[in-house]
Amino acid sequence: MKHLIDIKELSKDEIKELIEVAKDIMQSPEKYSEKCKHKKLATLFFEPSTRTRLSFEAAMLELGGSVLGFSEAGSSSTAKGESVSDTIQVVGCYSDIIVMRHPKEGAPFVASLKSSVPIINAGDGGHNHPTQTLTDLLTIACEKKRFDHLTIGICGDLKFGRTVHSLVTAMARYAGIKFVFISPEELKMPEYIKEEILQKNKIEYVETNDLEKYMGDLDILYMTRVQKERFFNEEDYIRLKDYFILNRSKLEKAKKDLCIMHPLPRVNEIATEVDDDPRACYFKQARYGKYIRMALILKLLEIK
Ligand code: NCD
Repeated sequence: MKHLIDIKELSKDEIKELIEVAKDIMQSPEKYSEKCKHKKLATLFFEPSTRTRLSFEAAMLELGGSVLGFSEAGSSSTAKGESVSDTIQVVGCYSDIIVMRHPKEGAPFVASLKSSVPIINAGDGGHNHPTQTLTDLLTIACEKKRFDHLTIGICGDLKFGRTVHSLVTAMARYAGIKFVFISPEELKMPEYIKEEILQKNKIEYVETNDLEKYMGDLDILYMTRVQKERFFNEEDYIRLKDYFILNRSKLEKAKKDLCIMHPLPRVNEIATEVDDDPRACYFKQARYGKYIRMALILKLLEIK
């Protein structure tokens, strides 16, 4: 059985195929409107979500299937002390595929060991978020038309930001990729990503806390929110939360075809005045999320 726990589990060919299917769905949605008839998708969200949960639900509904689930651990039997493994074995009796978000790193992996249906990791703590990365890859494919020879700036909370860990893992497999990691000292990219992904694959990267210094070099600027819920004390969060705020004047030196991305939700890190800039791609990115998740559901359910 196929699950999606880590983006590494998908080969470059599989990613290419998912992107082709997503593009086909965007062009001819009617062809897909009954592909998942009589199939059920369960969304188990032990942590808050807007886009990921709703885009998965919209994806399944547009494929003609139905959805069930919960969006708060407090409303499930977790509140009574049920383990993730038990919950998964039960939900597998009522659904054909499960999307799960959990605050504990590795929880979706543990769930996949016991599951009789495919499990999709929709974010596990500060670790991984593979379907956001698929969304990001479809955005890059549509907006930049290539995955190679790109200089990618990633700015904000690189320590706790699970979307950036998965994105770096995925992009490190393409030729000529350079990264510029822009963060305060305390929120730098974890050592395990630098050692196991970047150094091992000889990927060029710089670490800086100066966003404007590298602005002119970037093909993609991926902004992220400081992950408040992963901080141990509020003082540190308050000190770091507004460290980077992208506004119009900071974009003066940027390339004309820069692609500004953000997994959303945004707090203060992109001023709303940037939203009208043609280089702002973050709302388009959220839209792409539904189509790539439709393609992923079809793949994991082995529906042609
Ligand atoms: C991200 C997440 O949950 O990690 N959101 C999302 O799924 N689009 C990013 C975030 O919460 O900052």
